[in-house]
Amino acid sequence: MTTADALAPDTLAVVLAAGEGTRMRSDRPKVMHAVAGRPMLGHVLDAVAAAGIARAVVVIGPGMEEVARWVAPRPTAVQDERRGTAHAVLAARAALAEGARDVLVVFGDTPLARGETMAALLAERRRGGGAAVAVLGFRPADPSPYGRLVLAADGGVERIVEARDATPAEQAIGLCNAGVMALDGARALAFLDRIGCANAKGEFYLTDVVAVARAAGGVCRFVEAPADEVMGVNSRAELAAAEAAMQARLRRAAMAAGTTLVAPDTVFLAADTRLGRDAIVHPHVVFGPGVTVGPRVEIRSFSHLEGATVAAGAIIGPYARLRPGAVIGENAHVGNFVEIKAATLGAGAKANHLAYIGDAAVGAGANIGAGTITCNYDGYGKYRTDIGAGAFIGSNSALVAPVTVGAGAIVGAGSVVTEDVPADAVAIARGRQATKPGAAPAYKALRRALREEKG
Ligand code: UD1
Ligand code: CA
Repeated sequence: MTTADALAPDTLAVVLAAGEGTRMRSDRPKVMHAVAGRPMLGHVLDAVAAAGIARAVVVIGPGMEEVARWVAPRPTAVQDERRGTAHAVLAARAALAEGARDVLVVFGDTPLARGETMAALLAERRRGGGAAVAVLGFRPADPSPYGRLVLAADGGVERIVEARDATPAEQAIGLCNAGVMALDGARALAFLDRIGCANAKGEFYLTDVVAVARAAGGVCRFVEAPADEVMGVNSRAELAAAEAAMQARLRRAAMAAGTTLVAPDTVFLAADTRLGRDAIVHPHVVFGPGVTVGPRVEIRSFSHLEGATVAAGAIIGPYARLRPGAVIGENAHVGNFVEIKAATLGAGAKANHLAYIGDAAVGAGANIGAGTITCNYDGYGKYRTDIGAGAFIGSNSALVAPVTVGAGAIVGAGSVVTEDVPADAVAIARGRQATKPGAAPAYKALRRALREEKG
C-alpha cells in the first residue's frame, strides 16, 4: 500500500449508486444488498479507503435516504434523474469543482473491486506526463453485456463502445470496461460536460469520456484487472455469484492467516470476520457480521455466530448459537443447542447443553447445567442475570431476572430461582418430592378397575 499512501490525499472518489437496480426486482436500493454480510456499497467504500483515498462522495438517487444514512458521515450527492453514468458523476459537480489531482469513478455494484487495483489504476494515470483517462479493463468469460475497449494503434484506448451500440466486429472484442475509471482532476469536469447522449439508450455515458478526451489531445490508457474482481451485480443470480467469489476470497485469506477450515466451501464468513491463529473451524459454520475469534478456538459444526467475541482456546458447538454481544472467555465451552445473547461467559465457564443465556454475566469456571434458561424478558422489559465465578447451576433451572447467584453457590436441578442466592449458598427452589413406599400396586389396581367400569 506504499504507492496508495503516496497517491491518496489528492484523489476524489466518486461512487455511483443512484441506479434503480431494476433487474434485482427489489424494494431496496441495489447497493444495499449484502455480500458477505456487508452492503455492496460498503465493500466498494472499503476498497476506496484501502487505496488510501480519504475523499469520497457517493451519488445516490432521489429517495435513497437509507443509503445516505449508511454512508454518513461521508457526503452524498443526489442525481435527480437517472440519465446515465456520466450524468451521475456530474451530480457530484460541487465536489469536482473543488479540484483534485485525480477523480476516481467507481460503481457501487462491483463489490469485489480491490483497493490495490484502484491504486494501480491511479498510478497508471499519473505515469509519465499523466494521462487524461485510465480505464480498468478486464476479459470476462462472457463479454456480451459489457462496454468494449477499442484500442488505438498506439496501444492506448481509442474509445469505449457500449454493448448495445457495438457493431458485430466490436462485439468480438474481449477486453471490457470494468467500470472503474481514473480521470485527470484538472480536466475531468470539462470532459464530462462535453459528453452527449446520442446512443441506443439516450443516456450520458461515462464511457464516452475516452473519445472526448482523445479528441482534445489527451492520452487514454488502461490497466487489466482479474475478471473475478470486477464482476458487476445487476441481478439476484449475479449477487449470488459475487457472494461465492467473495466467500472464496475470504476463506483463502483466513487460511493464509493461519486458521484451519476443515471444509472451506461449507464455511460462510462475513467481510469483517476475524479468526485467530490455529483456530479450527469445522464444516458448516456460519459467521454473521462482527465476529472475532481468538487463537486456538475450536468452532464445531453447525454453529452460527454473529456480533460475538470468542477468546483463546474456547470450544464452541456443535450446534451453538452466539448472538450479538456474546463474549466468550478463554477456554470456555459452549455446547450443543446453547444460545448466548448479550452475555459474557468467564474464562473456563461451561454451558454444554440446551441452554439460553441472555443479558447475563457468567463468572469464570461456572457450570451451567443442561436446560438452564435465564428468563430475561417479562413481555415488557429485559433484565439481567449475574452468576458468580465457580457457581453451579443444576439442570433445567430457570433463573428469573433480575437475579444474582453468588460466586461458588449451587442451584439445585429444576429450580425456578426468583430470589438472589448469596455466595457459597445452596438454593433449591422446586416442589419437594413425596415418596410413598409400596403404593404402586394399589394405584395400578385402582386404574384397572376404573377401565373395566367404563367397558
Ligand atoms: C456500465 C458501463 C459498461 C461497463 C459496466 C461494468 C457505462 C455507460 N457502461 O454498464 O461499459 O462494462 O458498467 O459493470 O458506464 N448509475 C447511476 N446513475 C445512472 C446510471 C447508473 O448512479 O443514471 C450507477 C448505477 O447505480 C451503477 C453504476 O452506475 O452502480 C453502473 O450502472 P449500470 O446501469 O449498472 O451500468 P452497466 O449497464 O452495467
Ligand atoms: Ca452494472
